[in-house]
Amino acid sequence: MIRRLFSRLGKGDPKEGSPVHHRGFNIPRHLAWRTGTLANFTAVSDNHIEALTRFGGLADAVDVVEIGCGVGRDAIALLSHLPNDGTYLGIDIMPDSIAWAQKNIAATDKRFAFVHFNVADKQHNPSGTEAMDAYSVPREDGTVDLIFLFSVFTHMFPGDLARYMGEFARILRPGGRVLASMFVIHEGLPAHLEKIGGGGARNLTFQHEVEPGFFHNDPAKVPGATGYSLQRLEEEAAKAGLKVEAFARGQWSLSGGHEVPGQDILTFSLA
Ligand SMILES: C[S@@+](CC[C@H](N)C(=O)[O-])C[C@H]1O[C@@H](n2cnc3c(N)ncnc32)[C@H](O)[C@@H]1O
Repeated sequence: MIRRLFSRLGKGDPKEGSPVHHRGFNIPRHLAWRTGTLANFTAVSDNHIEALTRFGGLADAVDVVEIGCGVGRDAIALLSHLPNDGTYLGIDIMPDSIAWAQKNIAATDKRFAFVHFNVADKQHNPSGTEAMDAYSVPREDGTVDLIFLFSVFTHMFPGDLARYMGEFARILRPGGRVLASMFVIHEGLPAHLEKIGGGGARNLTFQHEVEPGFFHNDPAKVPGATGYSLQRLEEEAAKAGLKVEAFARGQWSLSGGHEVPGQDILTFSLA
């Protein structure tokens, strides 16, 4: 149906056509499309690297893990940031994105590795067989300086988020950090978003607080976009042995005074 709509508009299917050029790599369009908007594919990655530098301690990070790495958009940017003795592990649930990243990034740079996590997910991996609540990030305890997730907690339910938080507390080195971009919902924000016709690229309003501090943009669309209050995130972090370290408001919510473009940015460290 989307294809028919685009061809009626005379634009063709956005997933088909020439590869997306990104920092010297040619990424198959259908894989890049699943990672993010094609029009600003590299610019968004520039914003990610800036956030990792400003809030995540990227300059001093040696061992890095990315959850929800997609086709490796940010891994490609990190090729020129990671020290020679550094390691990067990218994890995603989309098998063909991981296969492309293994063949095109990891095969030419031994610091980089990608693994497929075969969890079932209606949108990204419908035939998955692994359970999120039994998942272990394949890294030893206390060995990672920086863990990051861009636009991944934005689709996640509390149980899955809690599992990842527990894993982060296990694998972080003392002094290490977790950086996540997500939608943080403060008091009065849903009413504000409703009034202005929605924030972000998808007119998000987060009218549904389905449990305390956990919001769903549209419960009819699962997973769809999810949001959390700062208090709920602090509680989830504390349960895992982490604490919220920094919070930077993103431009998405159009609520004024934003510090970063796109989604809100949070960092966590060991409690
Ligand atoms: C919106 S995309 C963002 C991709 C990438 N972080 C970027 O910004 O370029 C969300 C990604 O999270 C992945 N994902 C969803 N659930 C996940 C999970 N439980 N564990 C790891 N990755 C997940 C999806 O497959 C998808 O690649």
